[in-house]
Parts: sequence; C-alpha cells; structure tokens
Amino acid sequence: NLYGTERQNSRGLDLSDAPKLVDLGSKMKAFAVTGWSGGPIIGGLEVPGDKQTVTSPSDRGIKVGEMAWASRDQAEQAVARADRAWWGWNKTPAAKRAECLERMADLMEENTPELMVLCMCEAGKTTADAIAEVREAVDFCRYYAVRCRRDFGDAMVMPGPTGERNELSLQGRGVFLCISPWNFPLAIFLGQVSAALAAGNAVIAKPAEQTGLVAAAAIKLFHRAGVPGDVLHLLPGDGPTVAGPLLSDERIKGVAFTGSTETAKLIQRALAARDGEIVPLIAETGGQNAMIVDSTALPEQVVRDVLASSFQSAGQRCSALRVLFLQADVADKVLTMLGGAMDELTIGDSADLATDVGPVIDEDAQAMLTAHIERMRKEAKVIRDLPLPASTEKGTFVAPAAFEIAGLHVLQKEVFGPVLHVIRFKASELDSIIDQINNSGFGLTLGIHSRIDETVNYICQRVRVGNAYVNRNQIGAIVGVQPFGGTGLSGTGPKAGGPRYLHRFATEYAVSIDT
Ligand code: SER
Repeated sequence: NLYGTERQNSRGLDLSDAPKLVDLGSKMKAFAVTGWSGGPIIGGLEVPGDKQTVTSPSDRGIKVGEMAWASRDQAEQAVARADRAWWGWNKTPAAKRAECLERMADLMEENTPELMVLCMCEAGKTTADAIAEVREAVDFCRYYAVRCRRDFGDAMVMPGPTGERNELSLQGRGVFLCISPWNFPLAIFLGQVSAALAAGNAVIAKPAEQTGLVAAAAIKLFHRAGVPGDVLHLLPGDGPTVAGPLLSDERIKGVAFTGSTETAKLIQRALAARDGEIVPLIAETGGQNAMIVDSTALPEQVVRDVLASSFQSAGQRCSALRVLFLQADVADKVLTMLGGAMDELTIGDSADLATDVGPVIDEDAQAMLTAHIERMRKEAKVIRDLPLPASTEKGTFVAPAAFEIAGLHVLQKEVFGPVLHVIRFKASELDSIIDQINNSGFGLTLGIHSRIDETVNYICQRVRVGNAYVNRNQIGAIVGVQPFGGTGLSGTGPKAGGPRYLHRFATEYAVSIDT
C-alpha cells in the first residue's frame, strides 16, 4: 500500500501553534547566525580547502561563516575511495541501508533548529520555508528507506518453466555524482543523496556553491546515522573545478543533477564524450510553468493560489508559476484582486516571522531579475511593481512584480524569481494556449483553475507536463503523495518522491540457476 502504512510524512510545524513556535524560536536562538564553518568531507573527515566567505542574503554585511572548497586532488581522492567502497555498500543488506536513512531522518528531526538556522542564514529561507525544507528532507529519507526495503531486499523470483530458479534483483551502479541546487539546499540535496545511497551506490555530493554549509551539516549527520565515510563524500566548490573532471572519470557510473537545462545538457555532452560506458543522467531542470484560469474559476481561490505559486520562496522554485493565462471575461476582476493582495505581501529579512517574501539567493540572481523587471517596465503593462522597503537595502532582494505581456514568445527563458507574467485569452483560444505551453518545450508544472470537469480533463490530456495541479497552487509537491519531476526541457522524467525513483539509480541483475 503506497499511500497508507508506507507513507508517513513528517508533520513539520503548524505556524499558528504559538507555544510550539516560541519553543522552536528559543531553540534556534541557541545557534548564532555567524561563525559557521564547513568544508570538503572525504572518508568521513572534514579536510581543509580554499576558504570562501559566506554572507547572509538578507544582509550582505553579516558574515555567516566560512566554507572551504575542494581541490581537484581532493576530488580524485574522494572518487578513488568511493570506487573501492561501493561494492561493499551495495552488498550491505537493503534493510541496513534503509536503517541508516531512517536514522538520518530522526537525526534531522532532532536537529531541526540548527538546520533551519543554516537554511535561513545561508540560503535566505523564511521560517515557513525552512520548516518545509527540513520536513521534505526527512520525508525523502523515510520514503526511500521504505522503497529500499521493499524493492532492494529479497530478489524477485521469476517463473521457472524449465525447472530453473530465476531471480531478478536491483543493484547499485557504482559511484554516483549528485549535483544539487541552492534553492532546496537540504531537501533536494538529500533527496538525491539518499536515493543514490538507498539504491546501493557510493556518493560524491557536490552541493551548489551558495549553500555548502547546509550540505556539510547534512553530510555529517549522514555519517552519524551510520553511512560509512568512504561511501559518502562531500566536495563543495565551483562546478568546473570539482564536477567537471569527474564527469569524464570512468569511475563515475551515474549523475543526478538538479539545476538549469543548459547545465544539464553540458553534463550530458560530457558524459557522452567519454570513451567508456554509457552512463545515465537523472536531470531535473527548469520550467516555464503556466496556470490556465477560465471564467468559471473562483477569483479568491485563484488569487490565493497565484500568490503562493509565484511569490512563495521569492519565486525560487522550479515548480513556481511564471505565466498566468487568464480568460479575458474575468481578467480585470482577478487582476484587481491580485494587485490588492500583492500590496499586502511583506518583503523582508528571512528571520522575521512576518516575512512573506525573503531575499533572492545572490547578487547575480538579483541583477538578472532586476534587468528583466526593467525590460518588462518598458515592454509590458504593469499590474504591480512593488517597491522594496528601505530595510532590505543591505540584502539581495527583488520585490514581487506582475506584468501583462502579449504572448509567451516575449519570454526567452525562465525568470527564476518573484516575477509573474499574465496573458489574456478568449475561450476560443484554449487550444492555442495549450499549443504555446507545449511548444515552449518545457514541461514541469501546470496549474488549472476551472469548475468544468470537461475543461480540466481536456487540458490535462493535451498538455505535456510532469505535474498538473487543479484548483490549487502548483508548488510544494509532497514526498510519496505528488511524485515530482518534469518532461522535455524540464528533465529526464524520474519522479523524486515517487515509488520508482530509486530504480533510476540502479541496474537490474538476473540470475538463472539450473537445479
Ligand atoms: N519540489 C518543489 C516543489 O514542488 C520544487 O522544486 O515546489
């Protein structure tokens, strides 16, 4: 039963539960915002590296800590040790590997205040997002533990029509390189790592440059949970130095990557350029995610779901809504309400409980988004272009904005931040907008708001996306409930948090014994 006893999601924390929130706040206060450190972890030990200063996205004057980056030599040491260790880990009973993942989930729950502080001060997460981040990471570990026991335990006995005994089992592939993004520095990072480990692989984890401290804290916990030091290594650093050489290393037998479509293609080319084996790439990339709202939708519900989908996490989710298709008959009403609701958003320091929209990740993101907003101010109709409060001037903030544009062709690429684009359509144009969405080539999330079942079913059948959400927001897929992942330019298709995800990290082995 995939949806009953096997699914025990972490409960997280209800933000309206004041006593629990106060308790969490006082526990978080035990961890200072400054003075953190981390670095490469090879064979279970932290090793020195080239130190980088980490500052807070909410205030660049606050030095959060120092993160040491790995060298090429260290990358070589890590892959050599992982290559020697993976077979033993693959032969460790699935139940033991699953226990490690479950202990990891327990350790993360015990250490939630520390992990939250790190997510907030290194990645600029709001309190609500930091709670969700830990919760999702816990869920990945528990869910993959269950799947590991179930699918990697006893071999499947196949028919033996000639009297032979035939068995089929899932095995690890070898050393997996896991390259993860900054927008979910704990959840996606651990989602990849825990899946690769559960499937019997050794892992080289390469976190995003911006969020090495969170990653280092997580890897230390994983070693405490029982994963041998030589099976799991952390190599923080910049992509070309650390991950680049590994992509052409014969000992890397698979790559899991979440990030931009461009980088996924670079990785795919590098893997294909090797002389040796054909190795799999599991890629989860960007989106040009749309929501289609027809005239039967409930405006209040639409506004609530657009706000969450576009501006929660400062729009820095691959699932986030970028293009709202509004049926012309209701567009003015919905946009008036949406503008009013946007005026109520609180933009500010991620540590402030009242904050709805925290900072974006860094100066590069801020500059890209600011340039896009400048362009939209000239070329599009402004629905809302919120001012930034003076309190945000020391951080990398971008105020939420919404613009009405002429068509999807106006957007050349994904705008990864709190910017919404609106396109009006007439009822007769529904097919045309579905074509536009499909022709964008991306296929991650789609929101649909309609009270007509035929319309919902028609859109769901025609559109090519990984995750469609009807009459609700389109973010925050829950592990084991909404397996998440896109198609086309949005990824190679595996569903994180889904029952078959671990299979993509494994090979199948058939043994036939004549008795
Ligand atoms: N899994 C996240 C979500 O559903 C996106 O990365 O929002």
